[in-house]
Amino acid sequence: MDQSDQLDELLTCRLDFGKKTVEPCTIVIFGASGDLTSRKLIPALYHLHAEKQLPSPVRIIGFARREKSHDAWRAELRDALAKFSRTKRIDAAVWDSFAANLFYCQGEFSEASAYQKLGEQLASFGDERLANNLVFYLSTSPLQFAEIVEHLSKARLLRRDEPGPGWQRVVVEKPFGQDLGSAQKLNGDLTRFAHEKQIYRIDHYLGKETVQNILMFRFSNAIFEQLWNRQSVDHVQITVSESIGVGGRGGYYEEAGALRDMVQNHLLQVMALMAMEPPVSLEAEAIRDEKVKLLKSIRPLHPSQVETNVVRGQYSEGEVAGQTRLAYRQETKVRPGSNVETYVAAKFFVDNWRWSGVPFYLRTGKNLALSASEVRVQFRPTPNVLFAAQCGTKLDANAITLRLQPNEGITLRFNGKIPGTSLQIRPVRMHFSYDAEFGAYTPEAYERLLLEAIEGDATLFIRRDEVETAWSIIDPIRQGWGNQPLNDREFYTAGTWGPVAADQLLSVRGHAWRNPQPVH
Ligand code: BG6
Repeated sequence: MDQSDQLDELLTCRLDFGKKTVEPCTIVIFGASGDLTSRKLIPALYHLHAEKQLPSPVRIIGFARREKSHDAWRAELRDALAKFSRTKRIDAAVWDSFAANLFYCQGEFSEASAYQKLGEQLASFGDERLANNLVFYLSTSPLQFAEIVEHLSKARLLRRDEPGPGWQRVVVEKPFGQDLGSAQKLNGDLTRFAHEKQIYRIDHYLGKETVQNILMFRFSNAIFEQLWNRQSVDHVQITVSESIGVGGRGGYYEEAGALRDMVQNHLLQVMALMAMEPPVSLEAEAIRDEKVKLLKSIRPLHPSQVETNVVRGQYSEGEVAGQTRLAYRQETKVRPGSNVETYVAAKFFVDNWRWSGVPFYLRTGKNLALSASEVRVQFRPTPNVLFAAQCGTKLDANAITLRLQPNEGITLRFNGKIPGTSLQIRPVRMHFSYDAEFGAYTPEAYERLLLEAIEGDATLFIRRDEVETAWSIIDPIRQGWGNQPLNDREFYTAGTWGPVAADQLLSVRGHAWRNPQPVH
């Protein structure tokens, strides 16, 4: 019998049959008046509702300080949804059925009475499951995480080490600490009242479709994984560039800087997925074990090595896509003499059998030329005979680029003969585009993450030892910078690809950044 080779007719392999079905529950969002709630969380919950993925029944309670009626909160969210939803059209009937599940609870995070009120509200739903199956989403200042969890525990809304009734989970937004010490303290504070298994630390990059696909790409294909090692790979470049500046977040950014804001979490997570060993199973713990092992194999930098392995930068005035941009030091809530970095490039080595000697270059920055996240695996050049001997460095080495966003896709770059009577070679590309293959449907990272937290699957969340290991990589870099002011070479004009020193970080080994290209 002929076998069809139409891709979409081939059997799709489903891996999530064994997944638990979602159980009725209440999601309580602390910090409900914040930006994250209106921009990300509510739109994500709305879409999950529209696609009938939320449990039934479900309730969503916004907990915040300001006095507000349920209806006033609903109306605010409806307006925000129109602005931030990933689909332009909001279906009025779907919104109405969704909004009927939204409730507001006014209270001070520091007052026990507020939690009693919350308890009464949960009981008023008249369904044991809605009162006991609880997702507490902490979208507040990190300074309040410990206090909220303690109050929840004292009010017996969050119960540690108890078999029932129901289950309770705590979802914690970033930043998770400022350094290793504060992350350890926060972990200690949270685990006094919640078991590690009840804590879901968010890194929204893990909710991105393309980031999840890294493991599928590596471990469901025989041809690539064989090349994923020091024998074949020359170096790896991970770029997360943003064409926006810090906007209204100057106050937060002054405390964070690019190293804490992006490298400690998103970039190290992508690197861990790219470089980790195959897990023994697809269980959350097995995958997280391998990620931690990889992070632990990253060669720690001594503060004295920071100068030669890490480059920081700060944007000065410039233009991005024809728009004038202020210098970072002129942004709102930024100190005029601030030395906070808006750009970081770092060279890491992974001291394990697979990656020994292969540099991993990571970079991220604000107000760069283009917004794009990608990972480029640059393969070794061919031996210096035949074509390579004649073309020298003009013979491009092969590369695989995983474009994480936007224009999601994967590109393999190799050389081909230009047709004609003369003998000329140039790079050509094989390209897989998500859009062309699967259509434009890309759920927001928060949709996936919220659903996983409701289901109780921790795979896409950061474990305690993982967050602490990541900080132990970052802390020496900050120590290396100390209080030294930025020098002239560390400033870059907004709209460029960062400070010149970042080019030298690679050129000492004969490497060069490959900048993401706009896709039209
Ligand atoms: C956040 C950072 O975690 O990630 C922001 O705090 C950054 O500074 C954002 O802009 C980038 O996320 P995304 O999904 O737009 O790549």
